[in-house]
Amino acid sequence: MTKVLITGTGLFTPEDSVSNEELVLAFNTYVENFNTEHAAEIEAGSVEALAPSSVEFIEKASGIKSRFVMNKSGIIDPDIMCPRLPERSNEEPSILAEMSVKATREAMQQAGIESTDIDAVLVACSNLQRPYPAIAVEVQELLGIEGFGFDMNVACSSATFGIQTGYDMIRSGSARRVLVVNPEICTGHLNFRDRDSHFIFGDVCTAVILESDAVASAEGSFEIVDTRLITKFSNNIRNNFGFLNRTAPETVGAKDKLFVQEGRKVFREVVPMVAELIEKHLNDNSLAADDLRRMWLHQANRGMNDLIAKKVLGRDPSETEQPTVLDEYANTSSAGSIIAFHKHKEDFDAGELGVICSFGAGYSAGSVIVRRSA
Ligand code: COA
Repeated sequence: MTKVLITGTGLFTPEDSVSNEELVLAFNTYVENFNTEHAAEIEAGSVEALAPSSVEFIEKASGIKSRFVMNKSGIIDPDIMCPRLPERSNEEPSILAEMSVKATREAMQQAGIESTDIDAVLVACSNLQRPYPAIAVEVQELLGIEGFGFDMNVACSSATFGIQTGYDMIRSGSARRVLVVNPEICTGHLNFRDRDSHFIFGDVCTAVILESDAVASAEGSFEIVDTRLITKFSNNIRNNFGFLNRTAPETVGAKDKLFVQEGRKVFREVVPMVAELIEKHLNDNSLAADDLRRMWLHQANRGMNDLIAKKVLGRDPSETEQPTVLDEYANTSSAGSIIAFHKHKEDFDAGELGVICSFGAGYSAGSVIVRRSA
């Protein structure tokens, strides 16, 4: 049976970052301006006054201290409050493809391969810049990759769903080397005027190289022991933006064309779903939670991750058992668990096991059990 190895990972981090202090200052200035502008209506009771945000709340509720972003000036300008990313001409690379190429170069270097060695490109992310041509096909073109590519979107679980797709391709023989890349410009779908969620997301891109053991040569790779995916419909995390909408996001009443969620319900419903997924997945592979050295969890919320790890382990996880990148990166959708894996895998010894796990809108969740190769 063909074994599938993760032989390289890559990370592209944008240059700009926004601290909670900077984000809250912009939000609270917007709130003050709104309340001043609507003072008479607020007084008359026809408009509800907006409440300010707070740095303390954000850190306590989410564990997030800062986030990297593709455009800072637009986000922290109280009159704009969204990233300003000028549209590019058809002759220029798209932003998602450009980020993908940067993350991929690091992953290829780690895997010790050239782009011409890759057979398939999967761009797996939450928000695609355009419907077609696929960003994956553009990445192929920019890197000189033959074979084929396609885009896929399973929201925050896109990376693990992409990994299982590549794993299945390699095992079935339709490809020997697959690139799975996750360019996430989450700030593009975030409503920076929404107090409940304005702090949640950041931007980043991750890349993973999967190879058949018949061709892999990199040392210190991770063998994929098994993968498992689940989905269950829920409206609790939703974004209605799409090609049938003609309404600009800033139009009154169009808030659902950006990210919206019922945060509390998500917390309550997703934690048990993910813990059960990991437990069953381990069990079906005759493994116990104690066999895991580490869990690289989706980075959505510190409290959620601590609780999932606690349910799986039956005790509080240590920082090295369940590393977080949330403080620095915030929620970067599908890229989160891969950032954690990328940054916290080198200390593994041969034979040690871990699980990469994502969860998010859909609901969707994915579990990838990996073992460090010799
Ligand atoms: N600043 C200050 N206070 C705020 C605030 C802000 N930005 N946003 C909300 N609050 C207040 C609320 O008004 C509320 O006040 P009240 O108790 O007086 O009514 C209080 O803080 C609690 O609000 P709530 O929305 O219930 O917060 P929470 O503790 O559930 O945390 C999330 C909110 C979103 C961080 C949390 O629910 C969560 O992480 N859920 C998981 C969802 C997730 O991560 N989704 C991403 C996709 S996977």
